[in-house]
Amino acid sequence: MDKLIIKGGGPLSGEIRISGSKNSALPILAATILADSPIQIGNLPHLNDVTTMLALLRSMGLAITLNEKMTVEIDANTIKEYTAPYELVKTMRASILVLGPMLARYGEANVSFPGGCAIGSRPVDIHLRGLEAMGAIIEVDEGYIRARSNGRLKGASIFMDTVTVGGTENLLMAAVLAEGRTTLQNAAREPEIVDLANCLVAMGAKIEGIGTDTLIVDGVESLHGCHYKVMPDRIETGTFLAAAAATRGRVKLKDTSPGLLEAVLVKLEEAGAVITSGDDWIALDMEGRRPKAVSLKTAPYPAFPTDMQAQFTAMNAVAEGTGTVVETIFENRLIQIHELNRMGAKITLEGNTAVVTGVERLNAAPVMATDLRASASLVIAALVADGDTVVDRIYHIDRGYECIEEKLQMLGVNIRRVPG
Ligand code: UD1
Repeated sequence: MDKLIIKGGGPLSGEIRISGSKNSALPILAATILADSPIQIGNLPHLNDVTTMLALLRSMGLAITLNEKMTVEIDANTIKEYTAPYELVKTMRASILVLGPMLARYGEANVSFPGGCAIGSRPVDIHLRGLEAMGAIIEVDEGYIRARSNGRLKGASIFMDTVTVGGTENLLMAAVLAEGRTTLQNAAREPEIVDLANCLVAMGAKIEGIGTDTLIVDGVESLHGCHYKVMPDRIETGTFLAAAAATRGRVKLKDTSPGLLEAVLVKLEEAGAVITSGDDWIALDMEGRRPKAVSLKTAPYPAFPTDMQAQFTAMNAVAEGTGTVVETIFENRLIQIHELNRMGAKITLEGNTAVVTGVERLNAAPVMATDLRASASLVIAALVADGDTVVDRIYHIDRGYECIEEKLQMLGVNIRRVPG
């Protein structure tokens, strides 16, 4: 397994470009199943999860061509299989996103049940109950979700009792081809859902309330192809900003969007960062100062994202003062603190709360990545540690960060990848 060797050192400094959003790309790729003519998707990040989603669509028989600019053209009319097999779903839980579109367009979908994962049990009950409310017949058999519909799905009024990003996406993709009106209440409002909804509208869907917690969808008989460009990755943006803050650095991130991460920018300013921005760029300057510890609590958008929690925990580990980090979305998402403590951090865990008392510097140590965002926190810790940190199991990082070592090198970091 590949490893990253990172020499801790000076501040991050320089300019990089932010990639397309992984969490937008995955549902948008799943949505291509709905189109009855070819669709082109641009600004896809070159990431393992995107490759897995393309492999899944290809295994179902969709015709996919990819040009060197990572624009894919997908023709869903060649579909042959309505199954997402265990081998692919086990490597990426987001495979569940093909369930809604397959069922809506073809009346049949078999998707391996996504198991638990490092950050908690992550059930899909809300996805399944919503589809049943639209008339789907669902059985779980030999580890597979087997969903059928007699004719078109029927519009329904659905209240989701937990705010779920994937659940909202699956039900939205099912509703756009259902007969009649579907109302999704307590919908997630994450920018990735807005991006998916905008893509569906470009394909001919009728959706109102985009960006709010109530989505009203009037089903149409068919959807067509379009050109769509995936939005910038707000979590990659936030990760580089947190890394720059932790290292007392100065960076400019291009091809991103400041409006996507207000809650994160507010916390960075509280940590002492000077933030400036334009329509498609954000710059952060610590003016050489050590960050101040910040307290935060994760919650659905527009509050502080769970996907940025680990990176801020790492920043707090070298900040001045004590910060409290409360994780409310996933039950086991503070696992990175044990690795951070092995590097000399002072973090105590009480239930879903990490109390982080900053130290001047961390010490290099061999550490192991456990999930995607936890890995990012280990990279940040390595940047502010004395010595060479070896981060093992970086396939987790490659799921979500395009060209991480090249981008960090451009910001002045001594980092290399060692094949395992
Ligand atoms: C998505 C993101 C992930 C992010 C998360 C929360 C993608 C590919 N992944 O994951 O990066 O961390 O949103 O912002 O976009 N839940 C249920 N029943 C369900 C579905 C979810 O109880 O049927 C619970 C989950 O256990 C969790 C909470 O709802 O506690 C939020 O999960 P959800 O928003 O669904 O996360 P994902 O869509 O899996």
